[in-house]
Amino acid sequence: MKNNSWILKGNICYSKSEKELSVTEQGYLVCCQGISQGVFRQIPEKFRGLPVTDYGDALIFPGMTDLHLHAPQYSFAGLGMDLELLDWLNTHTFPEESRYESMEYARKAYKTFAEDLKRSPTTRAVIFATVHVPATRLLMDEMEKTCLKTCVGKVNMDQNCPDSLREVDAKASLLDTERWLLDTMDAYENVRPILTPRFAPTCSAALLEGLGRLGQKYNLPVQTHLSENQSEIAWVKELYPWSSFYGDVYDRFGLFGAGEEGRAPAVMAHCVYSAPEEVMRMKENRVYIAHCPQSNMNLSSGIAPIRSYMEQGLFIGLGTDLAGGANMSMFRCITDAIAVSKLYWRLVDQGAKPLTLEEGFYLATAGGGSFFGKVGSFEQGFEADVLVGDDLEIPRLDGWGIRERLARFLYLSGEKGRLIGKYVAGVQILL
Ligand code: GUN
Ligand code: FE
Repeated sequence: MKNNSWILKGNICYSKSEKELSVTEQGYLVCCQGISQGVFRQIPEKFRGLPVTDYGDALIFPGMTDLHLHAPQYSFAGLGMDLELLDWLNTHTFPEESRYESMEYARKAYKTFAEDLKRSPTTRAVIFATVHVPATRLLMDEMEKTCLKTCVGKVNMDQNCPDSLREVDAKASLLDTERWLLDTMDAYENVRPILTPRFAPTCSAALLEGLGRLGQKYNLPVQTHLSENQSEIAWVKELYPWSSFYGDVYDRFGLFGAGEEGRAPAVMAHCVYSAPEEVMRMKENRVYIAHCPQSNMNLSSGIAPIRSYMEQGLFIGLGTDLAGGANMSMFRCITDAIAVSKLYWRLVDQGAKPLTLEEGFYLATAGGGSFFGKVGSFEQGFEADVLVGDDLEIPRLDGWGIRERLARFLYLSGEKGRLIGKYVAGVQILL
């Protein structure tokens, strides 16, 4: 029997909406069978029998969804940060990813990745692996053990990459992919496969078309990269001259989400330079944008116009894009998103108000969480993904409220704060 019915006591925060933080000092978060029953000032009569964990003066808030990161890139995070996207891929990323042909290498690297992600603020993640099926299976096995909820994708690419990473042709790539899908679709409790064409330049039309067919056949989610860098966008136009805009290439092959309820969503990393038609199509197709601010700085990609996307009602979450981003901290990701929005406001568009703390926090919890369903909030009916933060070591003067303490925990926890509790769908993860 899973111990996923309980009550946590402490200072509880979660996003009521993009703009509003709900704060309950010394409140009770009630969870029954992994599902939040809400936050209360007193324990309601009907929940009196549940075990209570008293976290004292600690902060209790929803787990974070990392909507875009690359597991095999953890091993070189921090290198090549003087390069732009296409040179960075050729110099560091592709050579490193080639090494996952070796299971011995993959075992070492993925074990460290999984252990570190487990201890991080991330409770859910949408993850790229490499083209290698055995190593991707191994990553899925490692992720399963963490009890985090993740989507993991075997990467597809059959052109414009080194021989060591290029799949033989579209047919071989699709055969491998379908076999991998059938092997993994129902094999895990916590991990699901996700279709992962790396990005349009490394995929032939035949490959994209076949992946679209697989997506339709099995109703699969999709992850890829979109409009990250201007040279990349120009290259896509050269390779796919018939496309009206970059995302049109994915859309043509059924890899760009779909308007209907019940269809598995697509998540597009970056969207720094999405043309107005692209933005419109994303909205129609309920596409998720994974905003990856640190990566966009490190690779000198640019700043995504997130305020505008929010105003247009798009689905948005945050991603570390490890190792375009040099670390896997979603707290850092929130503060980076806020910081780059200020540069955008100051330097690019004075009409684009910077993100507030509430908005950054919302994007990392409820915003990205919705990719996984009812996730990222403590409202009744949401899956109980919870972080408990001890901020005792962060110097504090009298009179600060819970919101201020939460803000400082997000900004300063790398130095002084500590995560002392983590739960995913009600299951406690041992840190
Ligand atoms: N575009 C294609 N591959 C990648 C990758 O590994 N990282 C980033 N940031 N962009 C990409
Ligand atoms: Fe990426």
